[in-house]
Amino acid sequence: MAEGKYHLLPVYALLTTSDLAREGIRNSGSFRFADHIYRNEPSGRYGVGRLLDRVLLKLRGARSMRSRFFHSRREILRVVREMAGVTTGQLTVLSVPCGIARDLYEVAETLHTTEPALYEHVRFIGIDLDGEALDLSRELTQDHPTFDFQCADALAAGSLPGRLDAIVSLGFGEFLSDGMLYDFYRRCHSSLNPSGRFITSAMSRDRISDYLARELAELYTHYRSADQLVELLKSAGFAKVQTTHDEVGLQTLAVAEKVP
Ligand SMILES: C[S@@+](CC[C@H](N)C(=O)[O-])C[C@H]1O[C@@H](n2cnc3c(N)ncnc32)[C@H](O)[C@@H]1O
Repeated sequence: MAEGKYHLLPVYALLTTSDLAREGIRNSGSFRFADHIYRNEPSGRYGVGRLLDRVLLKLRGARSMRSRFFHSRREILRVVREMAGVTTGQLTVLSVPCGIARDLYEVAETLHTTEPALYEHVRFIGIDLDGEALDLSRELTQDHPTFDFQCADALAAGSLPGRLDAIVSLGFGEFLSDGMLYDFYRRCHSSLNPSGRFITSAMSRDRISDYLARELAELYTHYRSADQLVELLKSAGFAKVQTTHDEVGLQTLAVAEKVP
């Protein structure tokens, strides 16, 4: 109303019946919003809210965000399986910021069922600033003694543990300037073992999703192309960066290695 955009009021009222849109509007960029997209289970108020939620979950922006979750699951599994072939020691995987650590949880579930010997060798750590995200992550992973969650500022010096085999970071760079992201990548780089891998993603702009995010959720995203992401990771010290695009074409999915 302050901006005189009265035409958005009915859209706003309708959107708040959808659980996804309501979360996006009230808590821009929240871990619940991301997790709702990853779970892909429509919910909302009255029949219309659920229907609208289903439509929103099918938007290009939402499908593309979901693909980074699949990327994380796939690449964490790949890295622990490959490293298990060259070391008999413990492997440590960090998610930062972890939000609701569903990707780590699903990897642990898969390993527990299909490769119990490897499961015993993998330790998972989740770091987030928000105690609620950590509590929900602890609840989700309560059957797995291999998890450890820590409340810390990912941007503060010394907040990341060392000697890590893999770090995954999703839904963070989109909120940081290039300078802040560079510093964060530098610290991730120095926390990894020489053979460690960094798993991340960047998003390109989708007109409709960006319009909804800006006008209704006041969420201003830092979009980056594959080239921009590779340049940042390389300048932070990663020797090899592999990228692919998700099937929607909005998400760059990256895996960076310290040594070529
Ligand atoms: C969009 S969520 C992404 C979480 C998760 N990686 C995912 O993909 O669902 C962003 C998360 O970043 C956390 N966060 C924001 N700034 C942070 C900081 N400086 N240090 C640690 N966590 C932070 C928030 O608490 C929130 O859980």
